[in-house]
Order: sequence, then C-alpha cells, then structure tokens
Amino acid sequence: MSLDPRLDLRVAIVGAGPAGIYAGNLLANAVEEAGGTVAIDLLESLPAPYGLIRYGVAPDHPRIKGIVNSLQEMLDSGRIRFLGNVEVGKDVSLAELQERYHAVILATGAIRDAVLDIPGVDKNGSYGAADFVSWFDGHPDVPRTWPLEAQQIAVIGNGNVALDVARVLAKHPVDLRSTEIPDNVLEGLESSPVTDVHVFGRRGPADIKFTPIELRELGELNDVDIILDDADFAGVDPAAASTNQLKIMLRTMNAWRTEEPKGASRRLHLHFWHAPAEILGDEKVEAMRFERTRIEDGRVVGTGEFVEYPLQAVYRAVGYFGSPIDGAPFDPARGVIANVEGRVQDSPGLYATGWIKRGPVGLIGHTKSDAMETVDHLVADAQAGLLPAPGAGALLELLDEREVEYTTWAGWLALDAHERQLGETHRHARERVKVVPREVQVEISRSGALTGA
Ligand SMILES: Cc1cc2nc3c(=O)[nH]c(=O)nc-3n(C[C@H](O)[C@H](O)[C@H](O)COP(=O)(O)OP(=O)(O)OC[C@H]3O[C@@H](n4cnc5c(N)ncnc54)[C@H](O)[C@@H]3O)c2cc1C
Ligand SMILES: NC(=O)c1ccc[n+]([C@@H]2O[C@H](COP(=O)([O-])OP(=O)(O)OC[C@H]3O[C@@H](n4cnc5c(N)ncnc54)[C@H](OP(=O)(O)O)[C@@H]3O)[C@@H](O)[C@H]2O)c1
Repeated sequence: MSLDPRLDLRVAIVGAGPAGIYAGNLLANAVEEAGGTVAIDLLESLPAPYGLIRYGVAPDHPRIKGIVNSLQEMLDSGRIRFLGNVEVGKDVSLAELQERYHAVILATGAIRDAVLDIPGVDKNGSYGAADFVSWFDGHPDVPRTWPLEAQQIAVIGNGNVALDVARVLAKHPVDLRSTEIPDNVLEGLESSPVTDVHVFGRRGPADIKFTPIELRELGELNDVDIILDDADFAGVDPAAASTNQLKIMLRTMNAWRTEEPKGASRRLHLHFWHAPAEILGDEKVEAMRFERTRIEDGRVVGTGEFVEYPLQAVYRAVGYFGSPIDGAPFDPARGVIANVEGRVQDSPGLYATGWIKRGPVGLIGHTKSDAMETVDHLVADAQAGLLPAPGAGALLELLDEREVEYTTWAGWLALDAHERQLGETHRHARERVKVVPREVQVEISRSGALTGA
C-alpha cells in the first residue's frame, strides 16, 4: 500500500484509562489500514496506566480488573508510547502539545464527585464516593487513613457506584482478604463498627441504575441481611418494567422481600422514594432528613412528608464529574469537553473520548465504541487535510528540560512485576499488592526500567 502523506501523523492522547488506550489502538489500526504511519504518545498523570480500572473498579471484582490484560497487550504492541506521571495542564500545557502533534485526543475521564447541593453536606462524616473509592483502591493522591467510626451509614444514589460503596462498607473484611485491597484499607475496614448500611434512591425501584449482577451480589454477602420496605414496591410490576435488566432486578428484590431476615450481624437496607433534604448534626453527621417522593404525571415529585434517620456517616454516590483542561472548551453543566461526536468545537486537531466526551456514565466496553467514533473523525479530518501542521519540537526534550520524572512502558512492566511479586509473598497470597505512594511507584518504575528488572 502506498503511503498517504496526510496520514504521516503524530498524535498525543491525554489519559491512559480504557478510553485513551482503545483510542490509541484503534487509531494505530486505522492509519495502518489506510497505508499511513502514526506515532502515538499516551500521557497519563499517574505513574501507572488503566485509569478507573486500577483506581475505581472494586478490589473484589477481579474479573473486571482482568480487562487490563487486553489493554496491556495493546500497549505492549509497541505502537503506543506510554508516558506516565505527566499531568497535562501542569507539567506540559495543552497548547504545548498542540504545537508538537497533528492532533490531541483528550481522554481524561471524570475523577471528582458531582455536587449534592443540600444543607449540611460539608459536615464531618459526609464523604464523596469518589474519595472513598480512591482510598479503598489505593489511589496515590488521597490520604491513606479513612475514619470508619459509624455504626449507621447512608449511601445516597441508586447507581453501581452506590452499590460498590455499600458493599465494601457492609461486607465482612475477612471476605476481602484474598483481593488486591491494600493492607491499610483492610485494617481500616476490620476496625469498622458498622451494623447498618442504608442505600437511598430518590426515585422508585423501577428507576434504579444498578445492573443485575451487581445487585444480586448483595444477596450473596456473608452474614448480611438485605432489608426492603414493602410499601416502596406498591404498584411496581416487574412485568411492566421498561427493560429486561430492570425486570430481572425487580424480581431479585421481590425475592428478597419474601425472605425472613437471617439475624445477620450487619444489615443492608434499600430505601426508595427518598430525596435527600438535609444532613443534620452540629459539626458531625448525626442524622439525615429526606423528603418522601412519588410519581406525578410521569415525574418524581416531593410529597411534603419528611423523614429522619439517625446516622453517623453519609456517602454521596450521586455520580462523577469531569474537570476542565486549560485551552479546551468546557461545558460546566455536563462536566465534559464541549464536542460533537468527539470533535472539539472550533479547535481543529483537538478531540475527546470516553467519560470526558460523553459524561460519567457507561461501562468500560462503551469506551471502545466511543473511541471508534472519535478516531473515525480524526482519520477523516487527516485525510481531508484539516489537521494543523505541528512544529518540530519533541515532547521528551521539554519534559527533560523541566525535570519531569516521567515513567515509561518498561517502567510500568517493572512496577507490575514488583506488585505481582509482593502479591505472591503476601500472607493472604494475592494476585498483586498495589504500591500506593506516588514517589515509590515512580522510583520502582524508573529504576526497574533502567535495570530491566
Ligand atoms: C467506582 C467505579 C467503579 C466502576 N466499576 C466498573 C466495573 O466494574 N465495570 C465496568 O465496566 N465499568 C466500571 N466503571 C466504569 C468505568 O470505570 C468507566 O467506564 C471507564 O473507566 C471510563 O474510562 P475513561 O478512560 O474515560 O476514564 P478513566 O478510566 O477515568 O481514565 C482517565 C485517565 O485520565 C487521566 N487523566 C486525567 N486528567 C489528566 C491530565 N490532566 N493529564 C494526564 N492524565 C490525566 C486519569 O488519571 C485517568 O487515568 C466504574 C466506574 C467507577 C467510577
Ligand atoms: N460493577 C459495575 O459494572 C460498575 C460499578 C461502578 C460504576 N459502574 C458504571 O459507572 C457509571 C457511573 O456510575 P454512578 O453510580 O456514578 O452513576 P449513575 O449510574 O449515573 O448513578 C447515579 C445515581 O445518583 C443519583 N443521583 C444523582 N443526583 C442525585 C441527587 N441530587 N439526589 C439523589 N440522588 C441523586 C441518580 O438518581 P437518578 O437516577 O434519579 O438521577 C442515580 O441513582 C455507570 O454507568 C455505572 O454503571 C459500573
């Protein structure tokens, strides 16, 4: 195949979560198929790749964590150059990337909690789910201790993150021992006096955003009773549910409603029709007030009836939210980079993919189809001669000049081997033990890459 001069490209991808890696792999395939060449740099602010698969997916979900194996193959192919510990916006600006590459794809995901705007939300004991998830998954940039002093805990939200948070809080730590959960997290959970975890949805049982496997898993927790309120299910008919998944989940919950509690030492309550109104207490969380809701003309509305629950901690799992990048147009209402099908508006050569493109909803698999759309547009724009020509400056020179301690693919392989080795020798024999502090990850990556260890 003859070389298409318009497809002799240099492309930077920002963010090495699944969206960024799929985009790199699809781009390499597409350009190769079209008879061109492309040099791809994948920049990641953390020393290690894989985004929320490493730092979001719960440690007791090893099958999902296993998706990294296929992403690892993509990065191992040598077609994408991984550069970790490089934050775009801090170590290098977007403008500096645009000067050096024909195109930049933003795949920065969403790492913050969406705001829950109710009185009392800043009290001691009110936590964002994203922060808690980062703690239990050993994210390097959050404190390593977590206050687990509450007996009665609320989890706000009816999505899968709420389920992850509720499950990790309610599960007996002995059942987490063989996972890759960091030791300090296991020790923290072992000290937790929790007896009751209450999950609150602001709408009804037929409006849940859970998925069937994740919901069913709650019923499999050892020594945990699932408690539901029959009144919440009045008029809810599984047969009338809008999707098969909902039908399955409504049947699962109906089956739980017929079961007698086993007298377990911990209880997980699923409440519906509860809209968060206020977190109560002096400095610390002491209770939470909700307004009961119902459907009116197809919409959920408050009934004017308020109820209170005594609680000592509240976890807000009401969704994630993206962050802006200097130089890229940001939609503050949706928390995404303003784009049309992945093309960033009025910015030739700038693209977005993954959660920062379409918002923080969807599974890992969705980031692949999403990347396909973005890459198709990039390749079409390249073929149409619409990409700006970059200057000759090389990124590594700039990073070296600034003494940025970037990590490489060889460095990740060294860190990965190190973590697996720690797992083998751990007293509970695990697949891996994550190295948590950023500086230690960087040191192992950089020295391991040099020695080939
Ligand atoms: C708690 C939780 C659990 C989940 N569990 C599952 C599950 O079990 N199964 C499933 O299918 N899906 C799950 N998901 C959804 C899944 O994680 C997402 O669909 C997917 O990770 C989104 O991919 P992404 O690449 O867009 O974002 P991310 O995975 O967030 O990756 C973005 C990457 O960009 C990097 N980055 C951000 N800003 C910069 C910057 N300025 N410079 C350089 N790098 C930057 C980040 O460090 C990160 O590595 C879960 C989500 C959450 C929140
Ligand atoms: N195991 C897994 O597969 C897994 C695990 C974790 C996450 N994920 C995926 O990751 C994505 C993000 O998950 P997520 O749970 O963060 O988001 P989500 O699925 O969008 O759920 C967010 C929940 O928060 C509720 N909420 C939002 N604002 C609220 C408010 N002001 N008051 C009360 N409740 C409010 C929403 O209620 P409304 O519906 O009423 O808006 C919804 O129930 C999802 O696609 C999820 O499936 C998957």
